Amino acid sequence: ATSIILDCDPGHDDAIAILMALGSPEIDLIGITTVGGNHSLDKVTYNARAVCEVAGAPDVPVHAGARRPLIREAIDAAGIHGQTGLDGVELPAPTRELSQWHAVEWMIGEIMTRDPGTVVLVPTGPLTNIALAARLEPRIVDRVKQVVLMGGAHGPGNATPVAEFNILCDPEAAHIVFNETWPVTMIGLDVTHRALCTHEVQERLCAANPRLAGVVNGLMDFFRAAYRDQQAFADPPTHDPCAVAYVIDPSIVETRRAPLDVEIRGRITYGMTVADMRGEEDPECRTRIGTGLDVDRFWGAVEDALRRLPQT
Ligand code: BDR
Ligand code: CA
Repeated sequence: ATSIILDCDPGHDDAIAILMALGSPEIDLIGITTVGGNHSLDKVTYNARAVCEVAGAPDVPVHAGARRPLIREAIDAAGIHGQTGLDGVELPAPTRELSQWHAVEWMIGEIMTRDPGTVVLVPTGPLTNIALAARLEPRIVDRVKQVVLMGGAHGPGNATPVAEFNILCDPEAAHIVFNETWPVTMIGLDVTHRALCTHEVQERLCAANPRLAGVVNGLMDFFRAAYRDQQAFADPPTHDPCAVAYVIDPSIVETRRAPLDVEIRGRITYGMTVADMRGEEDPECRTRIGTGLDVDRFWGAVEDALRRLPQT
């Protein structure tokens, strides 16, 4: 199994990503770190713990990280995720104390004490924690196997015409992460806008684990209504689990190598990810961009993970 640290801001799709990481035998979830993004750090941290609780995994360590972006003021996505960050579902209160370690220090400790090349970082929120970790302990950069993030876009953005929300939350952090020497795979909107949770998909997910059907329906019904009202989608794009799916089996997501950077000075392009897709792939290029999704196998992987979580 691949050891991962899931760095997230739950968030409806982050919640599904957590369930998927917990249920997949291909993944060893070392722990969860949280970052202010979709909502405040306190709310998303509570949500991450509550999701572990309902999944029957209350002992998975959760560590709270950065409260705000490196340079810019925080923005949030309360319009999509509601006032709690996870509106639409009632989760059990966390039973374990929250760790007092800062997410960034904890992450560094895990990466430095485990074998080099074994830890995959999976950020599904703003990249603040990952950037801070790279600056605080530069030796992690050579030890991390790769960074597989949900964020960015080659085509249109969602938070601005050209910028995706996670990247726009903290473009300077994205700049640090993209320009370090570790391998980076960006699973952006070009992939995740294909991961639409239709009613049919939702029924499949519920059937896979009837105990969690109330949670899945609560999450997805709210997410669908929000995406209908705010973004004119008929069904919600379930972004964050796409990054987890790529770790489970890279062939679920179509990717190509391409130089990647982020705009941090543009007036109307601030937070835009720029991938150079011209020409042939350079085998030496350490950045990859997601370009497509095997939709059936993606949902199959989510379904399989839910099935393996406790059913009673
Ligand atoms: C990203 O923004 C957040 O609202 C979602 O959780 C996802 O990580 C999509 O742009
Ligand atoms: Ca997220």
